[in-house]
Amino acid sequence: MKFAFFDAKPYDKPGFDHYCQGTDLEIKYFETRLNEDTVSLAAGCDGVCVFVNDIVNAAVVNRLYEMGVRMIALRCAGFNNVDTRACYGKIHVFRVPAYSPYAVAEHAMALILTIIRRTHKAYNRTREFNFSLSGLSGFDLHGKTVGVIGTGKIGRIFADICKGFGMEVLAYDRYQSPGYHYVELPELLQRSDIISLHCPLTEDTHHIIDEKAISMMRKGVIIVNTSRGALVDTEALIEGIKEKKVGAACLDVYEEEADLFYEDFSGHIVQDDKLVRLISMPNVIVTSHQAFLTEEALNNIAETTVNNILNFFHGVPSPETEVCYHCGRQNDCRKERHQKCF
Ligand code: NAI
Repeated sequence: MKFAFFDAKPYDKPGFDHYCQGTDLEIKYFETRLNEDTVSLAAGCDGVCVFVNDIVNAAVVNRLYEMGVRMIALRCAGFNNVDTRACYGKIHVFRVPAYSPYAVAEHAMALILTIIRRTHKAYNRTREFNFSLSGLSGFDLHGKTVGVIGTGKIGRIFADICKGFGMEVLAYDRYQSPGYHYVELPELLQRSDIISLHCPLTEDTHHIIDEKAISMMRKGVIIVNTSRGALVDTEALIEGIKEKKVGAACLDVYEEEADLFYEDFSGHIVQDDKLVRLISMPNVIVTSHQAFLTEEALNNIAETTVNNILNFFHGVPSPETEVCYHCGRQNDCRKERHQKCF
């Protein structure tokens, strides 16, 4: 079995090489991302392995199918960048549903602690022997209210971390898990001091945080997005910050991140004015989609992805990791009957 591995980074290879050892899987690593221009690199391959910013639209899917590709192995949880409808009946799509929900939940809390205690400012000051405390006042998390949108694997762990800090947790999700206090979205928006997004990007959740949602929030609210950039309308966020309605933003993801994140643009003039504006704001922290990046997560990603590939080509069904456009649609899912998606 040959796989074309797109958007390969130095930290990907050791884990994948380790789990491929002694198997019949051969991986060709490509630094470039998968898109309509690069799809021909997958010629002669049985499958492609992709990450969050590879573009797997209908044109790419159809070209892959023509070239004989029968499997797309996502080495991430979200699959919004794959046209699963175009894949249906042609190419099976697998993902890594959970590699370390702790990594993402802990990163969300790390961003919150940094922004409210001004650690990013203090670090730079003391490096220059500036030991002044002016402008570094923060606030206690204890007693504050956090709104968690999406209480899946990551959202629940994040909510539990917040409970450990003595915070009141309000939750919003289409499906409820025991042990959390669920409210309707408007109530969550109105009552939360901090709002953290942990739902997937879908048609329903696109711009779930927009101008209207921000207008309902408390003055000084902190918005945290470690999920997918397009959950937040960036222009509305920037306006909210400028009007001081939004007190701070912690962003590990950004709507237009695909052209920038994971690459070194220091020494370049970044053309994305909205991102430049956000990064210039003292009450905004941007990290480059790194919430997943822990040793544990990288190991789990490699192990699950290699297993997905070996299982698929050896005829072992993996309904827990296969995805299609029926996902999330009740009473419409073959996987619930322990079958392949098609
Ligand atoms: P999950 O599938 O376990 O949980 C997602 C939750 O969102 C589910 O409970 C679902 O019911 C809920 N949801 C779906 N539509 C909703 C809606 N319209 N309103 C409210 N809730 C809704 O997924 P998991 O593992 O917790 O991951 C969440 C997201 O985190 C992923 O979709 C991905 O986009 C993002 N992620 C980000 C990473 C990073 O490095 N920044 C790494 C891994 C995941």
